[in-house]
Amino acid sequence: MNRFDEVITRKGTRSVKWDMAEQLYQDKEVLPMWVADMDFTTPEAVTEALKERVDHGIFGYTIADDLVKEQIADWLQTRHKWEIDTDWISYSPGVIPTLHMIIQSLTEIGDHILIQTPVYPPFYSVVKSHGRHVVKNPLKLNGEQYDIDFDDFEKKIQENQVSMFILCNPHNPVGRVWTKKELERMSEICLKHGVKIVADEIHADLVLGSHQHTPIASLSEETNQNTITCLSPTKTFNLAGLQVSYVLTANKKLKKPLDKQFNNQGMFMLNTLGITALEAAYKHGADWLDELRTILEFNRDYVIERFHNKTDVIKVIPNEGTYLVWLDCRKLNLTQKELKSFMQKQAKVGLNDGASFGDEGEGFMRMNIAAPHTIVKEGVDRIIQAVKIKQS
Ligand SMILES: Cc1ncc(COP(=O)(O)O)c(C=O)c1O
Repeated sequence: MNRFDEVITRKGTRSVKWDMAEQLYQDKEVLPMWVADMDFTTPEAVTEALKERVDHGIFGYTIADDLVKEQIADWLQTRHKWEIDTDWISYSPGVIPTLHMIIQSLTEIGDHILIQTPVYPPFYSVVKSHGRHVVKNPLKLNGEQYDIDFDDFEKKIQENQVSMFILCNPHNPVGRVWTKKELERMSEICLKHGVKIVADEIHADLVLGSHQHTPIASLSEETNQNTITCLSPTKTFNLAGLQVSYVLTANKKLKKPLDKQFNNQGMFMLNTLGITALEAAYKHGADWLDELRTILEFNRDYVIERFHNKTDVIKVIPNEGTYLVWLDCRKLNLTQKELKSFMQKQAKVGLNDGASFGDEGEGFMRMNIAAPHTIVKEGVDRIIQAVKIKQS
């Protein structure tokens, strides 16, 4: 059996996705297809490296030495054609902690920060929780694809004297992998108006088909000096519980205050197993990742086709990257509360509420398809069946 076909029970492993689902959806029959981790095992090379490290039995303070940094540089070079200097690297337990550190060290209370909505919910909270203001540049849905309204992008920056832009690329939840041209245009506007770019590229490796991820910082030296990039092997290799990530800042004037902020919060070290997993994944995980991408593409195409052929009320926005599928359920003609209840109580699938990504997500739900095909099929079938009953 293909490793990506195997259904492995995660219940009882303290899994957020599976063990919190009953409490969250108040029904133990609900199939969890929500939070962004995968129901697949990490590459064997990672498990083996972790076992070997665990067998040593001593877990004292651990350094992420030059070998780890070189492994990161190697990965970014081979995977994304981005040549970095290892001096740009800082470590962090996660992208969310990093975003908090960036906001606190590189913006002031009262500053305005631009985001492209609907977007990953913490983008709102990391801004608001530090007394900064969210400015929205809503994405425009043209047919089946979300695009950037560049006029609005620039207008919002000017009107609000925006000081920072948080980019999500590939974009969660709309699944776009922004093209080089789109990135160039965003960068140009940011440079023109003195707006720093924070690029959350945690989904960078998860691009489907012929789509190519372009790190925005790799566009030019000028853009690189204006950008802070957040990356991690945790989405790619299903290691979120190990809490390991890194940040790339070429501009010393930005890196220094950011590193100071990490230090002041006592965050200057990674956990032992996180370092081991990162190194093994980047060293040995490329083939596994390519196989995963074909599985995700297969699941994505299946979901699109099934909903297209079996219902006329649920439309799938085809994701170019990530394993998160954005479902347009507006034709069901339900309020958001009714839509959530419909998915939970009638269909018995645990999805993310579209409205949690912003007002623009009203009428939408997000489905995680990083699971064995049988699970994805079951989730889709449950929704189609519930729609049929509703329409009969
Ligand atoms: C866009 C994006 N950023 C950050 C994260 C979380 O990152 P971390 O677990 O490293 O804090 C996620 C998780 O879903 C995400 O989708």
